[in-house]
Amino acid sequence: MSGYPNGFLWGTATAAHQVEGGNWNNDWWAWEHNPMSPCVEPSGDAVDHYHRYRDDLKMLADLGFNAYRFSLEWSRVEPEDGEFSHAQLDHYRRMAETCRSLGITPIVTLHHFTTPRWLASRGGWSQMETAERFGSFAHWSIRGLADVVDMVCTINEPNIVATHGYLTGLFPPGVRDPDAREGANQVLIDAHHRAVEAIRAAAPGCLVGMTLAMSEWTAVDGGEAMVEQLRRPMEDVFLEAVAGDDFIGVQTYSRNRVSPAGYLGPEDGAELTLMGYEFRPRSLEATIERAASVTGVPVYVTENGVAATDDRRREAFIEQALDGVERCIDNGIDILGYTYWSALDNFEWVLGYGPTFGLIGVDRSTQRRSVKPSARMLGHIARSNGRGS
Ligand code: GCO
Repeated sequence: MSGYPNGFLWGTATAAHQVEGGNWNNDWWAWEHNPMSPCVEPSGDAVDHYHRYRDDLKMLADLGFNAYRFSLEWSRVEPEDGEFSHAQLDHYRRMAETCRSLGITPIVTLHHFTTPRWLASRGGWSQMETAERFGSFAHWSIRGLADVVDMVCTINEPNIVATHGYLTGLFPPGVRDPDAREGANQVLIDAHHRAVEAIRAAAPGCLVGMTLAMSEWTAVDGGEAMVEQLRRPMEDVFLEAVAGDDFIGVQTYSRNRVSPAGYLGPEDGAELTLMGYEFRPRSLEATIERAASVTGVPVYVTENGVAATDDRRREAFIEQALDGVERCIDNGIDILGYTYWSALDNFEWVLGYGPTFGLIGVDRSTQRRSVKPSARMLGHIARSNGRGS
């Protein structure tokens, strides 16, 4: 093992809506309260990270992490069309400054699933105009943070926004139409391009990329052609759209098994996570390889993790995932960092607070935090920049 490069980013991630609490001005909050949606519970106060971020960041720094990926809540920063809130942007500035004072590199995501209500009510990601609105939001906010942030993810998993919002109907606006999904893919790609341009103008030298949900794809019983067919609108159109970016954010949880008829569930007898996914940390190696070879840009693992009650399974997951990361580094792939999802147990969208991904547990009746052994394990690796030889 040649070792992790100097400056390797060892981080954890969160997303505003999943941890802040009280984000009533976005489409997800409305979705959580819509009796027709599949949401099992509302996000409510979440884990009150909006107020508790200093203590949370201090805990992460003490554990040994040197990076933290968080998102801006667009509906706070631009609560109505063109009406920007300096006070809200200042909140995120304080977060970035707190990170830096603790030796943590802040990585900011501009869109992590939630869209302001004013924009959702105008058609959201089905409208080309949304790409333009996103470009303005990106420009305004990154211009204001340029001196404290030098790494930005434009859109978190645009493929999931399009697929669940417009094909499966699981996410807002709950549409189920393959053409609408195709259209949303295009709007999201355009939004990404506009944001890259806006960020480079607002903050020259800032590294910018998108993050993509990627799976290891396994063809079963001659499912190769079906893999190609399903993977194209899910991953390939996005991988092909990131040429010239500074990195591609890879986010991997498991694999997809595909037969000629379509998606198969996990293999019989496979260990399942609280998400119902196959426990398969080695999928990360496959997605890093594919992201690197298709895009030719540096890879940044912006999310990887497991929802588990037994923290020893989380430790095993991380160890096995890192085996794959290390093989990729040995094979010459440029990897900027590894980010565990998530820092804290949090609001897992449609599934509510059931699936626990956190390195830090939260008792939501008191908001008390408890550091899990896996946090100490990964924090130790982070501090040592590796696992020794
Ligand atoms: C995503 C999001 C996160 C999720 C995580 C676990 O990948 O869907 O970025 O918001 O919480 O992936 O499912």
